[in-house]
Amino acid sequence: MKKLIGLKKTKTAVFISGTGSNLKNLIKFSKKKKSPISVDLIISNTRNAKGLKYSRKYNIQKKIVSFENNKIAEKKVFNFLLEKKIKFICLAGFMKVLSKNFIKKFKGKIINIHPSLLPKYKGLNTHKKAIENNDRFAGCSVHFVTTKVDAGKIIMQKKVKIEKRDTITSLAKKILKKEHLLYPAAIKKIYN
Ligand code: GRF
Repeated sequence: MKKLIGLKKTKTAVFISGTGSNLKNLIKFSKKKKSPISVDLIISNTRNAKGLKYSRKYNIQKKIVSFENNKIAEKKVFNFLLEKKIKFICLAGFMKVLSKNFIKKFKGKIINIHPSLLPKYKGLNTHKKAIENNDRFAGCSVHFVTTKVDAGKIIMQKKVKIEKRDTITSLAKKILKKEHLLYPAAIKKIYN
């Protein structure tokens, strides 16, 4: 992708469904001079997403779009993205699967963070699976979004060691800390 350091930042939307700690982290990152992105839009599929509070805190426009009907929802989202001239999408705990059609329109411009060392443990309950399988390591991955869930090209990963005393909660917490380092690093990697 083209170098953007020193040029205009790429207008980015972050899609969330929950707490939004990655959203907050990406917003903070985007405010740095050397960040290649600016977060200009927050999309959530639910008004209950706690992360929506960062819209007001950081003065970033938010749109809540119900995904009851996928096709209608994606059309709305697409129009919001056009309106705001969004060129890059970061999924951050977004719990809906985007359609082939939508992904094609933003080919190579949608990335996601996933709490496992992909290709291991696609989908949900990744921490539980890693503990139950007595894995020595767990971690997180940032990857391009393609039409197959959690299967696009991996951009970067970070590992954590699973200790004997780790529970699903403690492991999730440890991995989330790594996610906050990984997501900005992966974005920098794409744009460098
Ligand atoms: C993160 O663990 C992310 O990897 C996964 O969903 C969680 C979202 O956390 N996709 P938050 O909403 O960013 O705090």
